[in-house]
Amino acid sequence: MNAKIIGTGWELPAYEADNHYLSTIMDTSDEWITERTGIRKRYLAREETTTSLAAGAAKKALASSGLRAEQIDLLIVATITSDTETPSTACRIQAELGAVHAVAFDVNAACAGFLYALHVADAFIKSGIYKNALLIGAETLSKLLDWTDRSTCVLFGDGAGAAVLTAAEQGGVIAQSVGSDGSRWEALSCMGRVVHNPVCPEQAAPGFLQMNGQEVFKFAIKTVPLCIEEVLRKAELPAEEVTYFLLHQANKRIIQSVAKRLKQPEDRFPMNIDQCANTSAASLPILLAQMNEQGRLHPGDRLVLSGFGAGLTWGACVMEW
Ligand code: ACO
Repeated sequence: MNAKIIGTGWELPAYEADNHYLSTIMDTSDEWITERTGIRKRYLAREETTTSLAAGAAKKALASSGLRAEQIDLLIVATITSDTETPSTACRIQAELGAVHAVAFDVNAACAGFLYALHVADAFIKSGIYKNALLIGAETLSKLLDWTDRSTCVLFGDGAGAAVLTAAEQGGVIAQSVGSDGSRWEALSCMGRVVHNPVCPEQAAPGFLQMNGQEVFKFAIKTVPLCIEEVLRKAELPAEEVTYFLLHQANKRIIQSVAKRLKQPEDRFPMNIDQCANTSAASLPILLAQMNEQGRLHPGDRLVLSGFGAGLTWGACVMEW
């Protein structure tokens, strides 16, 4: 049995901030952001939370799958911006949906989070332990950003995407390849939490997301093509037969570079980065759900999904729609 996606949903905050707006609050410009990244605007949470965005996307994914919440037996949220340290976002979504039979937990793998969640769900479904899974990527990165650091804060947006998977005899996940390199964790991190502890004199300052943009860029353009080539080999699928390559939406130039290295036309690398910016773990499921809603995915299509991010973490998956 394979894990097959049978429903998708997405949710974005109401507030839109375009590059022109950012140029009124910091030393940046629409031209710099668009040329370096492909981003034109992002959605930022005001009233919304990671939990509310995740719940919105999950409800739409469930409705489009035809399953009821009680039929879900595995619920995973990929996020690095949980509203609470504990409980997990997944447990709060379980309560909101009434997914009473689900085991619920979060995974923390930054922008590769949805791929990691898919990896876990596919293993559980293949082994027969669980049958129906709800996977959500949800982030409010705007709350982790240093809004005085123009080199990071212009890159990110908030949002959530979700997918319902079920055990299927045909189609679904064909092959996966995921990896981590913790030795390079400092390239992208968010440190700190204030410690009030009688035995520990240190008080860590509350942290913001910090990134060595060029190091992450080089890591992405080298690792993502290798990871995709490996997963295509596992699936015994030539790149030419892939309908779409859905990549984590971090930077348009990274996606173009991967297309070039794989020698595949850019029009098979759909993008929504201009509209949504980098929504970390939410980026792949939002893109997938939007394409599904637009009727761009058809039974039998071969999709490659690939994500990369803090950790460092990366992953790719081949699935038949
Ligand atoms: N507006 C205007 N100028 C800026 C801005 C800005 N927002 N940000 C930086 N600059 C300036 C810099 O100060 C620098 O100026 P200087 O030459 O006078 O020193 C100049 O622009 C060039 O800066 P670089 O950092 O060299 O720009 P680069 O071409 O490397 O682009 C970027 C930066 C867009 C961040 C790129 O490195 C990148 O996309 N990296 C990958 C990021 C990524 O993919 N992250 C994904 C993982 S996220 C996750 O896992 C949560």
